[in-house]
Amino acid sequence: MITTGFLITALGQAAAVAASLQIVPGATWTAAGINQHVQAHGGGIIEVDSTYYWVGENKLDGGAFQSVNCYSSKNLVEWTYVGELLSRQSSGDLGPGRIVERPKVIYNDATSKYVLWMHIDSSNYGEAKTGVATSSSVCGSYEYLDSFQPLGQQSRDMGLFKDDDGTGYLLSEDRANGIRIDKLTDDYTNVTGPVHLFPTHIEAPAMYKQDGVYFLFGSQLTANNDNKYVTATNLSGPWTDWQDFAPAGTHTFESQTNFVLRVGDNVVYMGDRWDASNLMRSTYIWLPLTIEGTNATLHNEAAWVLPLQGPWSSAGAATTYEAASSDNVLSNGSKVIPCSGCSEGKSVGWIGGSNDGMLEINNVTSQASTPTTIRVLYENGDSSQRYANVTVNGEVHVLAFLPSGSGNTPFTSTLHVAPEQGDSNTISFSSYDDSWGPDLDQLIVPKE
Ligand SMILES: *[C@@H]1O[C@H](CO)[C@@H](O)[C@H](O)[C@H]1NC(C)=O
Ligand SMILES: *[C@@H]1O[C@H](CO)[C@@H](O)[C@H](O)[C@H]1NC(C)=O
Ligand SMILES: *[C@@H]1O[C@H](CO)[C@@H](O)[C@H](O)[C@H]1NC(C)=O
Ligand SMILES: *[C@@H]1O[C@H](CO)[C@@H](O)[C@H](O)[C@H]1NC(C)=O
Ligand SMILES: *[C@@H]1O[C@H](CO)[C@@H](O)[C@H](O)[C@H]1NC(C)=O
Ligand SMILES: *[C@@H]1O[C@H](CO)[C@@H](O)[C@H](O)[C@H]1NC(C)=O
Repeated sequence: MITTGFLITALGQAAAVAASLQIVPGATWTAAGINQHVQAHGGGIIEVDSTYYWVGENKLDGGAFQSVNCYSSKNLVEWTYVGELLSRQSSGDLGPGRIVERPKVIYNDATSKYVLWMHIDSSNYGEAKTGVATSSSVCGSYEYLDSFQPLGQQSRDMGLFKDDDGTGYLLSEDRANGIRIDKLTDDYTNVTGPVHLFPTHIEAPAMYKQDGVYFLFGSQLTANNDNKYVTATNLSGPWTDWQDFAPAGTHTFESQTNFVLRVGDNVVYMGDRWDASNLMRSTYIWLPLTIEGTNATLHNEAAWVLPLQGPWSSAGAATTYEAASSDNVLSNGSKVIPCSGCSEGKSVGWIGGSNDGMLEINNVTSQASTPTTIRVLYENGDSSQRYANVTVNGEVHVLAFLPSGSGNTPFTSTLHVAPEQGDSNTISFSSYDDSWGPDLDQLIVPKE
């Protein structure tokens, strides 16, 4: 059987394909409009009029509820912060110290409302409820309706599923009994009855349907485990046994299931790589998922291209530029410093600050002239984000850099730009708002 990946490699070798934006799992994803790493953890995506809206948890300031955020994108790579769907209140379910997790939105055709469900809890997870909110606009302000235990059962991690016939379902982790599928009312604001109970401890549920087969993906109840899936042709069952969809022992490539999205010919697994010690630095592990019959297989990619039409492909060949190379121009106090985790044990530090320390890399070569993704490898030993202005051929982009720890393998931040064809691209890093930038290790620039 010819797999999708093989087909693309063959085509890529036969004819140079224009460079494209890349998804870089686990990287800092800077959102336009706010210049910060996307804060939409445990979330979901809904497409409306060819725009994708990403709704998830804001964890900028720890685990307690801050807001449910919404971001938009036309291409699933470049995200713009739009606003808060729900904001913190002075008291109640959305008050200080509350738990609001795994927000998901589906559209109700009958009421013309977007319906947002989420896990609602007290700080010790003693309430185990779902909450519901509605809005007439997908990324607008939502009216919070109520919270309750669905059908009187505990509910922690949850997901939603809208079937082809418009029926809505709640996927709900009931710690006492297992993972449940409940049917939603016609207006999606309540549940009417149970559909299936799996007597298995699975959380972080996500459902996907293709060619009449329902796939339920989920995680075991630990931070780091091999996530599982089951299939059925009827939501009431019979269901298969739980099995792996990523190679055993990889812990689903160090991620927890969150959402599964169909994009054109492709299926995208959207997982979270949580950092419990500093939740804001949790990243997004989005990877291609092959669905064949009742089989689901996740592919690990360092960077990949997700076209809206046609098959996905691995990121192509790239050129690596060392920040500490003597070919580069360092000015205003930036300097080469030791960096044990970096290539050649060196990085360029003292970028930014009030002196505006700068690193300029000249003669960056690319045959791409359409937007592509440059990976910036860096370290940031702080516990909060750093920022830098990254100027590409005179055009300024602001990039965020999540904490990486120091002495570790460098983290990556993604820069989406349209370079000029040839060897005369100049990329420089300088101060954003007088703040210190990251310690820079390498740039990985697509060749074409
Ligand atoms: C939701 O459904 C339950 C069970 O049918 C019912 O007791 C409850 O009143 C309903 N809640 C709302 C807000 O309609
Ligand atoms: C699914 O299973 C339920 C329970 O056995 C049954 O009532 C229903 O008709 C089935 N649906 C389909 C489409 O076969
Ligand atoms: C599904 O996976 C099994 C086991 O790896 C394999 O034998 C079977 O051919 C696969 N089915 C399809 C439709 O790919
Ligand atoms: C930083 O360096 C540039 C030249 O590279 C210079 O024009 C500028 O004045 C310097 N800024 C400071 C604050 O020293
Ligand atoms: C390097 O960049 C400079 C300045 O853009 C350009 O003049 C030159 O042709 C480039 N290529 C080489 C090989 O120097
Ligand atoms: C950094 O970029 C921002 C946005 O383009 C700009 O407003 C700011 O002046 C730049 N900062 C410096 C020090 O150049």
